[in-house]
Amino acid sequence: MGFYSQVIFPRLCDLLLNRPFVAKHRKQLLATACGDVLEVGFGTGLNLPCYPAQVKRITTVDPNTGMHRLAQRRVRQSKIEVDHRVLSGERLPFEGGTFDCAISTFTLCSIGDVGQALSEVYRVLRPGGKFLFLEHGLSPESSVQKWQRRLNWLEMRLADGCHLDRNMRELVAARPFSSVEVQEFYLERTPKTHGYLYRGIASK
Ligand SMILES: C[S@@+](CC[C@H](N)C(=O)[O-])C[C@H]1O[C@@H](n2cnc3c(N)ncnc32)[C@H](O)[C@@H]1O
Repeated sequence: MGFYSQVIFPRLCDLLLNRPFVAKHRKQLLATACGDVLEVGFGTGLNLPCYPAQVKRITTVDPNTGMHRLAQRRVRQSKIEVDHRVLSGERLPFEGGTFDCAISTFTLCSIGDVGQALSEVYRVLRPGGKFLFLEHGLSPESSVQKWQRRLNWLEMRLADGCHLDRNMRELVAARPFSSVEVQEFYLERTPKTHGYLYRGIASK
């Protein structure tokens, strides 16, 4: 991983995603998080202040040590104990059925083999466990899709592998979850190419 990925991008990511109008959606998503929680793509820890009081401890994975370095201040300030592992979501070192809840926010866009990561999330959830996700992705408007596809190469370079055109509903629904509920909407104050959000709960 190079200088841009480890030093510049984590700061950029923190700046762009640390906004009150994004935090509002994080809090809504995380309101039902409970039990043993796994967060995939922990980033700079922006979800930490958004977890409800019942969450006392989380396990997190993220392959970028630069992200983890920036997250340290939030980890110290939080009452939540964080067990952080520097590794990718595609190969989770946990037994099947370990977690009650898995979380992903603005991360499925960046995972190389996103199908494999989702299969891993499914595997490590207990029966009845929930996968909570808040992700940007493919817009249903063809004029926006056109620009998402045109800008994809640039986004991947500037945002460290992020794709603009993944259909998050379809990706999650392709795993054998017993139910998948998704709300789709545009994020305020954000270009449509980058701000089409999928907020969902998939139950195992
Ligand atoms: C745009 S950031 C979002 C960070 C955080 N989830 C948030 O909501 O602020 C995307 C994160 O996905 C992480 N990531 C990239 N590839 C990954 C992978 N294969 N497995 C797990 N996380 C990954 C990146 O290191 C980065 O921290």
